[in-house]
Amino acid sequence: MRLIFPRDFIFGTSTAAAQIETAFEHDWQGVVARDGAVFDRTTDHELRLKDDAKLIASLAPYYRMGFLWSKLQREPLGKLHKPTVKIYRGFLDDLQKRGVKIMMVLHHFTNPTWFAKRGGWEKEENIDLWINYCKKVIDEFGDYVSVWNTFNEPNVYASYGWVTGFFPPFKTNLYLASVVVRNLGTAHNRAYKQIKKRYPKHPVGISHNATIFSAENLLGWFPARLGDWWFMEFVPSHFEKVDFFGMSYYTRIPHDPVPITNVLTPEKMKKLGRPHDDMWEYHPEGLRKCLDRYWNKYKKPIIITENGVADASDTLRQQAIKDYAKIMHQALRDGIDLRGYFWWSTWDNFEWHLGPSCRFGLYACDWETKERTPRPSTEIFKKLVWGKMIDG
Ligand code: BGC
Repeated sequence: MRLIFPRDFIFGTSTAAAQIETAFEHDWQGVVARDGAVFDRTTDHELRLKDDAKLIASLAPYYRMGFLWSKLQREPLGKLHKPTVKIYRGFLDDLQKRGVKIMMVLHHFTNPTWFAKRGGWEKEENIDLWINYCKKVIDEFGDYVSVWNTFNEPNVYASYGWVTGFFPPFKTNLYLASVVVRNLGTAHNRAYKQIKKRYPKHPVGISHNATIFSAENLLGWFPARLGDWWFMEFVPSHFEKVDFFGMSYYTRIPHDPVPITNVLTPEKMKKLGRPHDDMWEYHPEGLRKCLDRYWNKYKKPIIITENGVADASDTLRQQAIKDYAKIMHQALRDGIDLRGYFWWSTWDNFEWHLGPSCRFGLYACDWETKERTPRPSTEIFKKLVWGKMIDG
């Protein structure tokens, strides 16, 4: 049986500037990842704009992307850096000519060093600095953008930066984490207004990471419940002014009481005997649970802003594209207002604190030569995207 997607259903792939461009005076520059790689040169995107635009356009009609704030605005409240504007505009022109529409992410985990030094998102007064940047981006690049996404996964950003300490500023302070969430929420609401002032018809939304927190035993019950409340309820409740609810989905995290992942506790993951990728448990059914949950809660159109697997072998990825497509199709048939789907990621990139050994790309990126090569799953993805169908 053929499962057909609606004609206006959006398909795209997704990247984040910091993960594909060489680091430029931002708060991840020089961070040493778990696999030993230093966050600096990543995939040379800035040197391969033409080829990358071609690759992006071959994969899907939409592309979810962002800019390096630190490169565009080199001092607080400063004018956008002209040569950088020119380069980004050239890239967007190229994509536009190739028929690619843009979902623009205004903040994806990194900040300019000057912003971090002033206390970053811990300080309410710094919101003005980001809003100033946003206004300039809206003026300069707004005509290229079809859909806006203010913050990428504020729930991951606040949790990893201020609860687990995996991300800069590497803190473990629940109080500060909640201050950051409040500030991000305020910033989101203000950015929403700014975009609407200029582009009243363009959808503006957020992207939260949706995760299933499960308990493997009695001891896991409380941490799983707490994680679920903080991550899935408390943080999202600060971002309700949206035209669509954006969510990324990757995994279910079992707790025993500590989180079981293939990164932190590979021997436990093995013992569980469940499918997993190079990072986490593979639990595609969780996507449907999260769709149900947020659809019932908000009754807003949903866009899946990221979904994918860390799979260097590209065996699970080929299956995952099909599994997730079927789940989305069923959700559509059941009346969930699901509007689109973005695959993470277009090509392999620098996976934050874990480093480039975690490979999410439809295209492989050779870490020495930076050559991009399509993985077999690329064909499966393209069939789904351009044919708008999957064999059920
Ligand atoms: C982030 C990406 C990241 C991906 C895989 C999401 O949490 O937005 O930047 O690479 O998941 O971990």
